[in-house]
Amino acid sequence: MEAGGRTALCVCSILFMLTDVSPDFIHVPLSIHHGIEGESVLLSVETRFPLDDVEIQGTWSHTGPSGVRTTLVTFNKETTITDMTYRDRLLFRGPNVSLLIHELHQADEGDYHLKLNIAFHNETGLVIKEERTVHVTVDVPVSTPVVEKSPSYAVVEDKANVTWTCSVERGTRVVFQWLRDNVALDLRDGYRFSRDNSTLVIAPVRKEDRGSYRCVAGNAVSRGRASRAVELNVYYGPYNLEVNSGQGLRTGEVFTINPGELVFFECQADSNPPNSYVWISKSRNATVITEGPRLEVRSYKLAQAEEYLCRAFNNVTQKQNEAQFTLVVASLGTGKEKHSQAGGYLSPLAAITVSSLFVIGCMLLFFLRRTCHPKRVLMSIYNRPLSEQKRPHRSGHEDATEDFGIYEFVSIPGKMESAQASCRSLARLESVQDMHTTIYDVIGHVPETPSQSLLN
Ligand SMILES: *[C@@H]1O[C@H](CO)[C@@H](O)[C@H](O)[C@H]1NC(C)=O
Ligand SMILES: *[C@@H]1O[C@H](CO)[C@@H](O)[C@H](O)[C@H]1NC(C)=O
Ligand SMILES: *[C@@H]1O[C@H](CO)[C@@H](O)[C@H](O)[C@H]1NC(C)=O
Ligand SMILES: *[C@@H]1O[C@H](CO)[C@@H](O)[C@H](O)[C@H]1NC(C)=O
Ligand SMILES: *[C@@H]1O[C@H](CO)[C@@H](O)[C@H](O)[C@H]1NC(C)=O
Ligand SMILES: *[C@@H]1O[C@H](CO)[C@@H](O)[C@H](O)[C@H]1NC(C)=O
Repeated sequence: MEAGGRTALCVCSILFMLTDVSPDFIHVPLSIHHGIEGESVLLSVETRFPLDDVEIQGTWSHTGPSGVRTTLVTFNKETTITDMTYRDRLLFRGPNVSLLIHELHQADEGDYHLKLNIAFHNETGLVIKEERTVHVTVDVPVSTPVVEKSPSYAVVEDKANVTWTCSVERGTRVVFQWLRDNVALDLRDGYRFSRDNSTLVIAPVRKEDRGSYRCVAGNAVSRGRASRAVELNVYYGPYNLEVNSGQGLRTGEVFTINPGELVFFECQADSNPPNSYVWISKSRNATVITEGPRLEVRSYKLAQAEEYLCRAFNNVTQKQNEAQFTLVVASLGTGKEKHSQAGGYLSPLAAITVSSLFVIGCMLLFFLRRTCHPKRVLMSIYNRPLSEQKRPHRSGHEDATEDFGIYEFVSIPGKMESAQASCRSLARLESVQDMHTTIYDVIGHVPETPSQSLLN
């Protein structure tokens, strides 16, 4: 009895080890199937054992959304028993125990469980139990979506809200996405999406919201389908009002024109619908001179500098914008005029003056350097301590690195008193005792080669 118990324990542990360590005897390639309503789905299973060497027995069962579990098929190697209600729609595929479901209904959604017992002929008493679950969704493909806009007419920026609705005739679990000018919408404040994105509210509408809108609808079984485009027109502006002229010289808000010249000014602003423009002379008691985007001025009519104003008005947004400028009549050289059109703010006269001053300064500096060397260290080898001079193969003193550079050889003859006098304090020439002293002027930098290698 005791021996028998031990054997049972042994078999049990072998069984445990087998199921734990050995590779799976069945494999389910796909654990989630997206089924299409009315079509079929194959819950495929691969068996990894030689069928001739085993006995098998198992079931396929289904747990629907309601949580009710139904046994669909009971099978062994020889026979298959299918639930009567599924008789026409289920096909058990031996020998690999796959299950084919025809004409999928919404009710076929849920988890499908496979339970399989495998008994090996070569080992009596050994039964391997395998269980797998496959999830199946059943969806209706999405039809082409349709976009609606409310209100349908053009709206005014910052005042109106726009509601977009996307709908589909057919399709389950539809996911919606919105495109403006074929680009997915950048999320911004003021956009409100419904939970499934089927509705988009823009509150309030802005200029940037203009464009052609589409929605894209899709689900697990159909790629996104785009609706036709619907235009959103937004009234806005005027923005970025500018006054320009092809003639004259412009400096900020001041235009300078030649006497007798006929000058045109152009007023531009970004606006929808297009602005109406009026030109106003501020100098003449704010009278309206003309309407429209162009102003024509004959300079001989101007006695002195005159102030003008261009006012743009959008009669839908009821907003306006103004730009003011001053017109001065003065003689302009043609060359000067060209320069001004290059857009420089620096006056050419100033540029010439600055560069002249710079050249003069450079020349002065150069001259000064030639006559005396204020920054230089003047050294006389006769000033060196005796000990240093006596050292063989030395340049004359320890810190040779300071001596590298360009040397200027200056022999001071007797009649250089005046130059000496002027530079004396700076150059410390008082140390020069001998009239034939050689002065080393160290300029430039220490070269790459270390002085150490020279010394060795
Ligand atoms: C299972 O068997 C059926 C028919 O015997 C076959 O059509 C199907 O491809 C097999 N599936 C796998 C995963 O081997
Ligand atoms: C029994 O057969 C299975 C499958 O053919 C094999 O994996 C197993 O090693 C065999 N066991 C023995 C004890 O031969
Ligand atoms: C637009 O939406 C905002 C915020 O939802 C609301 O306060 C406002 O009254 C709406 N405007 C119009 C014109 O419907
Ligand atoms: C809704 O649309 C926005 C913008 O296109 C997108 O970022 C978001 O992921 C969508 N949400 C859902 C649930 O599809
Ligand atoms: C608004 O301005 C446009 C163009 O400037 C013009 O065609 C339209 O008649 C104006 N509308 C009203 C209501 O004044
Ligand atoms: C300027 O305008 C004011 C108010 O519009 C008016 O009272 C005044 O008489 C005007 N002056 C001239 C010189 O037109």
